[in-house]
Amino acid sequence: MYPLRRNRRLRNNEAIRSLVRETIVTPNDFLVPLFIVEGSGIKDEIASMPNYYRYSLDLLTKEVKELWSLGLKGVLLFVKVPDQLKDNKGTEALNPDGLMQRAIKVVKNAVPEMLVMTDVALDPYSNFGHDGIVSEGKILNDETAKILAEMSVSHASAGANFVAPSDMMDGRILSIRTALENEGFTDTGIMSYSAKYASAFYGPFRDALDSAPVDLMDVPKDKKTYQMDPANRDEAIKETLMDIEEGADIVMVKPGLAYLDIVRDIRNTVDVPVAVYQVSGEYAMLKAAAQKGWLDHDAVVMEQVTSIKRAGAHMIASYFAKDVVRLIS
Ligand code: PBG
Repeated sequence: MYPLRRNRRLRNNEAIRSLVRETIVTPNDFLVPLFIVEGSGIKDEIASMPNYYRYSLDLLTKEVKELWSLGLKGVLLFVKVPDQLKDNKGTEALNPDGLMQRAIKVVKNAVPEMLVMTDVALDPYSNFGHDGIVSEGKILNDETAKILAEMSVSHASAGANFVAPSDMMDGRILSIRTALENEGFTDTGIMSYSAKYASAFYGPFRDALDSAPVDLMDVPKDKKTYQMDPANRDEAIKETLMDIEEGADIVMVKPGLAYLDIVRDIRNTVDVPVAVYQVSGEYAMLKAAAQKGWLDHDAVVMEQVTSIKRAGAHMIASYFAKDVVRLIS
């Protein structure tokens, strides 16, 4: 009863605030997305993602060693595939000597203990920019899930610790888990993008990989027939529970900030670790506002990642990972 209980006593100075702080962000909370390109000597800044780069394999080694030295122990790999290698079935995704397969080996060579997670989806390999095979204006589900399973086995053979299917086809976790088991990859994990929304926040990522859906007749202009409707909350639980039944080790909500209600719902419902992807558009917004002097970059970075963790994330895939380590050390 007031004035016997004055809440401000617990906020009087940093010593007491840090003593009662409920959420502490550490380097252990982060997965670092990395964009990889063919060529050598390339460290190419992404136009809509200031201070974020695409690396060629030779420069990837140095970056991965730096991440490890900062205490960042997990990476999430994405590749930018040359146009001439793209087709409707993502054939190049299964090339044992493809860019992803080589990248996995480069990371493992640079830092054997680094946790390597790989993006599994057709869009970087698709000439239509879709996460699945396009046929008569539709994205084929089961045919795509089969390829994703083969792709996962290929990544596991190259040394990936976890595959991370980001496509939102139905049943793909079961087909991936079954294929991995059949091929003896019983230790290869699955981090499923389980509640992934059809979000406009992915724009800068699609610039980075040149992977946006193309503007052609009979090709859907968006991903709304497979990614979730941003208006839906209960459906996120259904999607996530199904992925867990099918064998997902870690589930994910994506994007982050605009979906923290979903994060908390899922955290309260499931018994597996929950990842949140703070996506490219979230990064771009803050960088742009900070460049204009309209927001305090460092303070807002910390507030955002702390909020994502407070909402229930066990881990955060974030382009700010290195910034955060700098800010907390
Ligand atoms: C593709 C994929 C996307 C992202 C991760 N994997 C884009 C999309 O679904 O169109 C987005 C990540 C980001 O915006 O940072 N399967």
